[in-house]
Amino acid sequence: MQFLATDIAKRFGHRIIFEKISFEIREGESLAIAGSNGSGKSTLAKICAGVLSPHKGTIEIILDGKKIPNEELFRHIGFVSPYLQLYDEFSPLEHITFFQRLRNIERTGTETDALLERVQLLHRKNDFVRTFSSGMKQRLKYVIALLHNPSILILDEPSANLDDEGTATVFEIMKEQSVRGILIVATNVLKEQEFCGQVVRLGKN
Ligand SMILES: Nc1ncnc2c1ncn2[C@@H]1O[C@H](COP(=O)(O)OP(=O)(O)O)[C@@H](O)[C@H]1O
Ligand SMILES: [Mg+2]
Repeated sequence: MQFLATDIAKRFGHRIIFEKISFEIREGESLAIAGSNGSGKSTLAKICAGVLSPHKGTIEIILDGKKIPNEELFRHIGFVSPYLQLYDEFSPLEHITFFQRLRNIERTGTETDALLERVQLLHRKNDFVRTFSSGMKQRLKYVIALLHNPSILILDEPSANLDDEGTATVFEIMKEQSVRGILIVATNVLKEQEFCGQVVRLGKN
C-alpha cells in the first residue's frame, strides 16, 4: 500500500493556503502535518481524507498495485477531526449502526463493544450524544474511525479535549496504526509530531 500526494495546492478565493506539497507514505509508516495556527493543517488533512478537493495536484492510494477510485476511498480511510459532526440525537450504538450501513460492513456486538470499551464509552453506549462532554465526543469519533479497520488513519488534533487516559489510548492507537497501515497526523503537539517518521511543515501565507 502507498499513499501518494503529488504537487498539492489549495486556495480559498485568491489566498493560496499552501502549494507544492508532495509526499509518499508506505505501509508501516507515519507522517505528521505540522505548522502554526491557520497554516493549513486541517485543510491538508481534509484533502488527504478525500472530503475536500485540492485545486491542483493529486492524492492517490495504491492498494495491491491498483489505484483506489475516489468514490471507494471512504472504505479505506478512517478520519478523526474537529470538523466531523456527530448526531446529537443518536447514541454511540446508533452511530455505529449508521456508519456500518454507510460502509456496508457488519461487526459483531462483541467487536463494537470492545471498541467502545477501549475508549471507555461502553457504559454510555445507549445515551444521547447531546449529553456527552467534548472529550467523550472525541472518544466516539475514534470508535467511528476505527470501525472498519481502515488501512489509512488520518487524525486532525488527535488528543483534542482528551484527558491523560484518553491521550494515552490515542497514542496506543497511533502506534498500532503506524505498524499495520498508514498514519497521518495533523498536530501542533510536539510529542505527536516526533512520533511520526516524516513531517510536512506548512508555512504561514
Ligand atoms: N472553508 C474555508 N473558506 C475560506 N477560508 C478557509 C476555509 N477553511 C479554511 N480556511 C482558511 O485556510 C487557512 C488554513 O486553515 P486550517 O487548515 O484550519 O489551518 P490549521 O488547521 O493549520 O489551523 C486559514 O487561513 C483559514 O482561515
Ligand atoms: Mg486545524
